[in-house]
Amino acid sequence: MTADHMFRNARLVTMAGDGLGLVERGALVVTGGRIAFAGPESNLPADFPAMESTDCEGRVITPGLVDCHTHLVFGGNRAREFEMRLDGASYEEIARAGGGILSTVRATRAASEDDLVASALPRLDALMGEGVTTVEIKSGYGLTVADEVKTLRAARRLGTLRPATITTTALGAHAIPPEFAGRSGDYIDHVIREQLPALAAENLADCVDAFCEGIAFSPEEVDRLFTAARQMGLPVKLHADQLSNLGGAALSAKHGALSADHLEYTDAAGAAAMARAGTIAVLLPGAFYFLREKQLPPIAAFRAAGTRMALATDCNPGSSPLTSPLLTMNMAATLFRMTVSECLAGFTREAARALGKLGEIGTLEPGKWADLAIWSVESPAELVYRMGFNPLHARIRRGQRC
Ligand code: NIG
Ligand code: FE
Repeated sequence: MTADHMFRNARLVTMAGDGLGLVERGALVVTGGRIAFAGPESNLPADFPAMESTDCEGRVITPGLVDCHTHLVFGGNRAREFEMRLDGASYEEIARAGGGILSTVRATRAASEDDLVASALPRLDALMGEGVTTVEIKSGYGLTVADEVKTLRAARRLGTLRPATITTTALGAHAIPPEFAGRSGDYIDHVIREQLPALAAENLADCVDAFCEGIAFSPEEVDRLFTAARQMGLPVKLHADQLSNLGGAALSAKHGALSADHLEYTDAAGAAAMARAGTIAVLLPGAFYFLREKQLPPIAAFRAAGTRMALATDCNPGSSPLTSPLLTMNMAATLFRMTVSECLAGFTREAARALGKLGEIGTLEPGKWADLAIWSVESPAELVYRMGFNPLHARIRRGQRC
């Protein structure tokens, strides 16, 4: 495919505005890797230059999907802990006994950068196979300077090995490493003084994240970390209110966070604070399902407050070993009662917003990258309704079919 190309006879799910932005008999024109036109074929200017074109035969075109919360790079797996949970142990019990995140920390420290790239590639391929063109990848299983650097170098390398846009997030404040047991405040100092400067020196972190929870870091510790991150010019996001309500949503809003994620235990005040701050609620139904949570995130409060909602796989070895955005949307609809429009916005427009990249990706609008997913379906609802079936017809990144 040449750089200049027209897709004709498509149903465009542009996601422009607040809904699906559906355009029947649509055309989408790509020039220089970017969208030059997206709208009804009949609106194409009469003098539009002739170019190579594809008849999409009525297929649906959405923006390339954006997975805005993953822990894609890690060593080993936690199938054994899954079996322990089947025997009745809880996620928190396993974590407090030195398993959980810390067992993946041991495996990640033992892995080389090459090992991490090799084990993450099939997961990235699975995401791309369902139309994902942008993936956020967090560190957080290294927890030393060298191992956090290794993790995010591996993440950046993935973006050179595959036609995918990778954004990176420093999640050193994911768990208290054994060397700092009982000294979580000292560890936060280490993240601030050692890890973040080392990552910034290699431009390895686009954002800073933390896990605010009884089994991880307190709101005061997160507050200190976020203050330091923002002083370094790095945007923040937070694993908030997943297992209990420590006020993580309001804390995120106070720092103007791009997003607060999980949010099962968030209250109406937290939802309203996020809406005022423009902090996106990133909902992770895979973790809710896999941990067999009972507390639903406050979808009604988010809607009432006008808090924007994104969705992500949260792909990680412990709470969400999930690499399917399509199944994630089905879970969001079935478990959280989100609408088709909310689900699709969650993996496109709102996910882009949660990464601070809405100006570049996330909708089919002129000027943005031509990152597209073309689906052999007749209606957008089919993308949310089926389970374990992948109707992706083609994936286009920056105008190139790949
Ligand atoms: O997003 N909540 C904290 N972090 C991950 C889980 C990490 C793990 O169990 O390895 C999450 O659910
Ligand atoms: Fe996560």
